[in-house]
Amino acid sequence: MRLVQPLLKGGMGLDEALAKRRTVRSFSPAPLTREQLSQLLWAGQGATDEAGFRRTSPSAGALYPIDLLAVIGSGSVEQMEAGVYLYESRTHSTTLLVEGDHRDELARASLSQFWMAKAPVSLVVAAEYGRVASKYGQRGERYALLEAGHVAQNIMLEAVSLGLASAPVGAFVDTEVRNLLCLEARISPLLILPVGYPK
Ligand SMILES: Cc1cc2nc3c(=O)[nH]c(=O)nc-3n(C[C@H](O)[C@H](O)[C@H](O)COP(=O)(O)O)c2cc1C
Repeated sequence: MRLVQPLLKGGMGLDEALAKRRTVRSFSPAPLTREQLSQLLWAGQGATDEAGFRRTSPSAGALYPIDLLAVIGSGSVEQMEAGVYLYESRTHSTTLLVEGDHRDELARASLSQFWMAKAPVSLVVAAEYGRVASKYGQRGERYALLEAGHVAQNIMLEAVSLGLASAPVGAFVDTEVRNLLCLEARISPLLILPVGYPK
């Protein structure tokens, strides 16, 4: 499904967003708009050239090992069904991977951090090391981990700019999150970012 076009200008100033960013663990159930979801995904991995080859986050050798997924609850994003969606940078669109509201299971897989399930949306930053290993060998894994950090920080700052809040969650059982998101074994979930209006 094609997302609404992201805004390339405006929003909060970078310094203000940096100063305001906090890990927030308490969210209002208010839904996000499709524009907000579009902007968050674009901030993480959106295309920034005409051909769609370059993105908002840098990538070693421009090999882009990071995948960005969205776990969306029922009534959590206006006019969007609950489900697990994969973001496609080049076309700025989402593909539905799994139907249904899986926020509770995601929180359980995250060592029962149930506060996460209250966030309307959780973005999941995942890596496929193989995409960088062919060029960089073992060092490719390090690059992918660094890139996951770039992507996550972009999303957290974008959330602040949109009047939203987020949290980085690294404590989860990889296999459980992978199964829940129907990811292949070669894809490693690295960080989960619940996002919503702070309560
Ligand atoms: C890699 C990483 C993993 C984290 N994992 C969790 C987590 O599983 N649960 C949680 O509540 N906070 C988690 N945090 C958030 C930190 O606790 C938080 O960033 C820290 O307390 C500093 O607060 P601040 O982000 O508000 O500045 C994580 C942060 C990072 C960078």
